Amino acid sequence: APSDAELLEEINRLRVEKNAVILAHYYQDGKIQDLADFVGDSLDLSRKAASTNADVIVFCGVRFMAEVAKILSPEKTVVLPDMDAGCSLEDSCPADEFATFRAKHPDHISLTYINCSAAVKTHSDIIITSSNARHIIDQIPEDQPILLAPDQHLGGYLAKETGRDMVLWPGSCIVHERFSEKELIKLKAEHPDAPVAAHPECPAHILNHADHVGSTSSILKYVLEHAAETFIIATEPGIIHQMAKMSPEKTFIGAPGMDGVCNCNQCPYMALNTLEKLRDCLRDLTPVIEISEADRIAAKAPLDRMLEMSP
Ligand code: 13P
Ligand code: SF4
Repeated sequence: APSDAELLEEINRLRVEKNAVILAHYYQDGKIQDLADFVGDSLDLSRKAASTNADVIVFCGVRFMAEVAKILSPEKTVVLPDMDAGCSLEDSCPADEFATFRAKHPDHISLTYINCSAAVKTHSDIIITSSNARHIIDQIPEDQPILLAPDQHLGGYLAKETGRDMVLWPGSCIVHERFSEKELIKLKAEHPDAPVAAHPECPAHILNHADHVGSTSSILKYVLEHAAETFIIATEPGIIHQMAKMSPEKTFIGAPGMDGVCNCNQCPYMALNTLEKLRDCLRDLTPVIEISEADRIAAKAPLDRMLEMSP
């Protein structure tokens, strides 16, 4: 097998040859984050994908993110290192069932978390991410009931924070669901001065212990700006790579899972992308994201609304 250095050299040669931009989510392997042209959260990455002038977008993240890139930049070739990089939230919400659910609540506006298929987006009014959800909800008339899918924990958190009337789809993220409240309480007792930063995909029993709740980029900003020396991080541990790089003097402890071990919360979908598969997809321009033009246009409308309504 080629060494990491050999793979990196090939990737660097190919990215120039193909006029490609490499976008990576904070949950990617540290080596992929380090070589990417841009690293960000779901909203940052959507904006970057919409504005790049590269010919090829190599999306190091999961499939729904690469689909968003294709929807916003149809003239570009969008490749994903591993097409099996899915998302449990997307899997929890098949488009036909979602359409039926919507039909049952005709008076509700549907705010749909970006973690869903392009087909579900076509049935949605406005797409949201963890970093713009609050801001978007605040622009919706107060008496307007909301249907929020597919993450019940993000939805529950937003309903509580905003006091809005919401119907929730019962989906969840298998990664954020695994944190243990009991183990978190023990860890907090060992580090009484360490603030807890959590992603809103965590269930309420974890969010109740958090000092900060937000998207990956907002958690990153929080730990960089906060004066504490040690932090407990309740989200996918890939982001700790970026924290340690930007604030090497601070200590970041991953929140523990059921067995008390902190690194059992790796996203198995994100982990499918490797340096070798990245090299291959850049070289062969496959697996490539394809969306029918009708679906693309229908899915783009709620994404455009999101971009217009974002802070
Ligand atoms: P953000 O990076 O937008 O916070 O999303 C987290 C996530 O789970 C992506 O799948
Ligand atoms: Fe989906 Fe959860 Fe993985 Fe994010 S961390 S891609 S929400 S399974």
